[in-house]
Amino acid sequence: MRTQCKPSQFIANRMQKVPPSGIRKFFDLVSDSEDVITLGVGEPDYVTPWHIREACIHSIEYGETSYTSNYGLMELREELSKHYTRRHNVYYEPETEILVTAGVSEGLDLAIRAIVNPGDEIIVVQPSYVAYVPAIIFAGGVPVTLGARPENDFKITADEIRAAITNKTKAVIINYPNNPTGATMDKSDLEAIADVIVEHNILMISDEVYERLTYEGTHTCFSSLEGMRDRTILLNGFSKAYAMTGFRMAYALAPKEIIDAMMLIHQYTMICAPITAQIGAIEALRNGEEEVEKMAREYNRRRKLIVGGLNKIGLDCFNPRGAFYAFPAISSTGLSADEFAERLLNEYKVVTIPGNIFGDTGDGFLRCAYAASREDIKEALDRIGNFVDGL
Ligand SMILES: Cc1ncc(COP(=O)(O)O)c(C=O)c1O
Repeated sequence: MRTQCKPSQFIANRMQKVPPSGIRKFFDLVSDSEDVITLGVGEPDYVTPWHIREACIHSIEYGETSYTSNYGLMELREELSKHYTRRHNVYYEPETEILVTAGVSEGLDLAIRAIVNPGDEIIVVQPSYVAYVPAIIFAGGVPVTLGARPENDFKITADEIRAAITNKTKAVIINYPNNPTGATMDKSDLEAIADVIVEHNILMISDEVYERLTYEGTHTCFSSLEGMRDRTILLNGFSKAYAMTGFRMAYALAPKEIIDAMMLIHQYTMICAPITAQIGAIEALRNGEEEVEKMAREYNRRRKLIVGGLNKIGLDCFNPRGAFYAFPAISSTGLSADEFAERLLNEYKVVTIPGNIFGDTGDGFLRCAYAASREDIKEALDRIGNFVDGL
């Protein structure tokens, strides 16, 4: 008889450095409960606009079911190039400087793998999306987390970034409008950071997936700043603004040499993003503006509702100017963020996510996604109010 084996022995060491997502735990707790209201998941509650779905359906009927260019359909890259010139006055060459990816998630992984040598440090500004740190570890890099402070409305400053840079630093990852805080950055904040990027000759990876969900002020695209186009890997996609999460449709914009390196990985691992989703993206760029603005207006109403409601309950909530998350402070209740979220779920059936999952400076805060109906938000606020009153 052949000897038995322990499958765990085959797992690479670096996998042990990456804990499972803390968010999953909360979704697993909910899956079998009834009457649960979720402010947990960072996903639009809208179905993708009909004209986008229809374009995809027609393309399947016409038999458009093949691979595309590794870079993505040229028609889509041309639309993206025009979109960036029009919106941000920054030009990307469709042939060589745009790569269509399966979600910003893939773009992030490619960006990091394309630039990281073993031991290179990448500064991750937190609180932030939970995938950044694992992506760096998977690539053999060293994540250096840097906490944006609540006193500064969760904006990172140029001085804070400067202080975290060492001679091993390769890049900084920022995400504004931010998940989980809803913080945004003004152009002047970003200009100061751009100076640091040049001073230390490093790259910026700017995840701008919530760009279209900016309710106050205007979004500044990092690569549109003077001198930043060649020092930026810009990631953006269709998941949030166009309610297209399941399409897995996004893109990376960067100088040719960097796109070439990302392409090398992409062509051997993904070949190309799904053609149906790419056709949907073309339709979204050509005719989706009205729907994007309509959804953004509704998120804005919900934002005011939830921020007002949380403040009224006594949970001090700073003003999120973008994305679809409110990030109230809960430390006044005497509970940790974990305890608060777990008890709120078990006792009042409202899903929220403890802020510490997104980084140390998120401790004492709670992420409440308001990509939920106004009725659900009102009911969730009633329940949160009752929970806090009863403490
Ligand atoms: C900041 C941020 N970046 C990237 C993603 C992933 O986006 P995609 O669906 O395009 O992979 C998310 C999803 O929540 C996010 O919040």
